[in-house]
Amino acid sequence: MKALVTGVAGFIGSTLAERLVRTGADVVGIDCFTDYYDPGRKRTNVAPLIEHPRFRLAEVDLALDPLDELVSGAACVYHLAGQPGVRGSWGTGFATYVRQNIIATQRLLESLRDRGGRLVYASSSSIYGEAEQARTAEDCLPRPVSPYGVTKLSAEQLVLAYDQTMGIDARCVRYFTVYGPRQRPDMAFSRFIRAARRGEPVEVYGDGNQTRDFTFVADAVDATMRAGSVDDPAERVFNVGGGSTTSVREVLDILGDILGGPVTIRNQPPQSGDVRHTGADLGRARRVLGWNPTVSIREGLAAQVQAAPEGE
Ligand code: UGA
Repeated sequence: MKALVTGVAGFIGSTLAERLVRTGADVVGIDCFTDYYDPGRKRTNVAPLIEHPRFRLAEVDLALDPLDELVSGAACVYHLAGQPGVRGSWGTGFATYVRQNIIATQRLLESLRDRGGRLVYASSSSIYGEAEQARTAEDCLPRPVSPYGVTKLSAEQLVLAYDQTMGIDARCVRYFTVYGPRQRPDMAFSRFIRAARRGEPVEVYGDGNQTRDFTFVADAVDATMRAGSVDDPAERVFNVGGGSTTSVREVLDILGDILGGPVTIRNQPPQSGDVRHTGADLGRARRVLGWNPTVSIREGLAAQVQAAPEGE
């Protein structure tokens, strides 16, 4: 089976591609090594894959380069490429979010139409906006509160439109704040671990009582693979959350336990676009994908601490 993974050099993409190769798939990985964060880290992420005989890296820009040949013959396309980051999506950088999240997705969909291939789109909990309930179900009205969330929702809607009308067999997985080894350096846990190890205070936005349904990367990858392998699912959109909600302050208490000493906090103003709470209703993912998260925040955070690069 040939699988295509876009954003293969990223945090989740590289972890997914490793799993696919291990399960016997031939994987073509696409990445254009944008400088959202150090492209050297992305090279490190794909280094073990490049050694593998069933893996091929294609350095391709989804928003610009020809894609037909790459997608041809792929049993499943896992579309994880995109411009991430909630808080940085305001202001002049928005054009980049439109290009990397919407234009790139539309071009990929055009190259896939009428081929009968399957697509799994990596969507985001940020499409929901401020949660009205402790656990948000997929049918809840999306009301993103960041430009990033708006572009992720636009791309998700495009995917569903092509699914309805253009013969694409699509599924969307809405990831809830994924963490673990290789996590992007701009995300909370990476920043916290780096600062704490240097003996510096960690920066907490707002009062630290905001909560997230943090999801360990291996669980997110497992859900993604199940979404790609289930035939004729009754639903197209699935929440992928860690199964419990934890506040930023609670995360820092756990991190202090793992590191063997309390973490010092420096409070910063709340950030525009950050929601107060996320929580995933996992009923549909359990029912249709037979998936359940298995890694607790304590185990997962310890694994991320252990895997954090030198100097962090
Ligand atoms: C994350 C990803 O960055 C998005 O790409 C993804 O789409 C999104 O999850 C999602 O679930 O949809 P976010 O929840 O903001 O976004 O993830 P973190 O950067 O890990 O932040 C978690 C919490 O920690 C936020 O409330 C944030 O304000 C807080 N934080 C972050 C701090 O208090 N200090 C920091 O230095 C960084």
